[in-house]
Amino acid sequence: MQDKLQQLKEKALPEIAVIKNESELTELENKYLGRKNGEMTELMKGLKELNSEEKKNTGQLLNEIKKEIEEAINKKREVLSNAGFNERVSKEKVDLSQPYLPKKESGHLHPNSIVQKKLEDLFVSMGFLVLDSVELESDYYNFEALNISDTHPAREMQDTFYIKNHGNWLMRTHTSANQVRAIEKFGAPLRMITPGRCFRNEATDARHEHTFYQLEGVVIDKNINFGHMKAVLETVARCLFGSETKVRLRPKFYPFVEPGVNGEVTCFLCGGKGCSVCKQTGWMEIFGAGMIHPNVLKYSGLDPKVYSGFAFGFGLTRLVMLKYGIDDVRLLQNGDLRFVKQF
Ligand code: DAH
Repeated sequence: MQDKLQQLKEKALPEIAVIKNESELTELENKYLGRKNGEMTELMKGLKELNSEEKKNTGQLLNEIKKEIEEAINKKREVLSNAGFNERVSKEKVDLSQPYLPKKESGHLHPNSIVQKKLEDLFVSMGFLVLDSVELESDYYNFEALNISDTHPAREMQDTFYIKNHGNWLMRTHTSANQVRAIEKFGAPLRMITPGRCFRNEATDARHEHTFYQLEGVVIDKNINFGHMKAVLETVARCLFGSETKVRLRPKFYPFVEPGVNGEVTCFLCGGKGCSVCKQTGWMEIFGAGMIHPNVLKYSGLDPKVYSGFAFGFGLTRLVMLKYGIDDVRLLQNGDLRFVKQF
């Protein structure tokens, strides 16, 4: 038996030495050491026929030879896997003559997005949800549910693009259209802002564009009053234009609020003294706001005797123009890279 073991070793080791790839090596491993029918395993079975002295000697030799074969296989496996790696590396090429490839230019946020994100961060820090909504809106949410009936003159100021043969669908004229949608969906109490794109049928000029951005906000709870509204709007104004900024609220009619106000802030350029940006008034008009009209609360499914709230709408496009001193609204969306690259 000891002879057979020696023979097996003399046969196995040279075979291992000439193997060229890993799968052949595994085959060979099974042939000699495999648990079922491996040649070594078969020889081991013969051990039990020997007497105890022979069993001890032969067992020892068997273990030594098995270990030697295992080691040879492991070493070979390592050599083969390194060879595979070296082969791959040798095929890869570094072409030193390749001309320098310019770095791809990376984009950046549009000034609109910069201001929008700043406001979103502020409102999120005050516990507001940030909601998205549709741009193709129904007559109902854009006008009707906001207390702007079919024949209301406010419709004329907000003429927009209607969808042919679908009289009830239009491009929303203001983000206020998401007020009733949001209250229906989330109920009260609610704190939310909803920034987005709006549309109007404008003959465009430096101050008017058919497509522009607003940021709407709604707060509803029990016992919400005008003071809460003023505090929130002052916080926003100071975030945008600095801690010295003052807010002026003057009565203005909007069908969906009562009372309604027109909101101005002290001009951040002249500090209120009067300059060309504020047209010598010292004030800049940047939002509309008011206490939500009871009819709007009813349309939203809330009882105006239980809940009250306020709403506000910022002209986001206007804020961007003021912040960056942009004098023509059309620059913001005409796609001229010389313009957008400046931010
Ligand atoms: N939706 C108004 C507009 O586009 C702005 C506005 C005014 C929004 C008063 C409001 C508000 O939420 O309370 O002119």
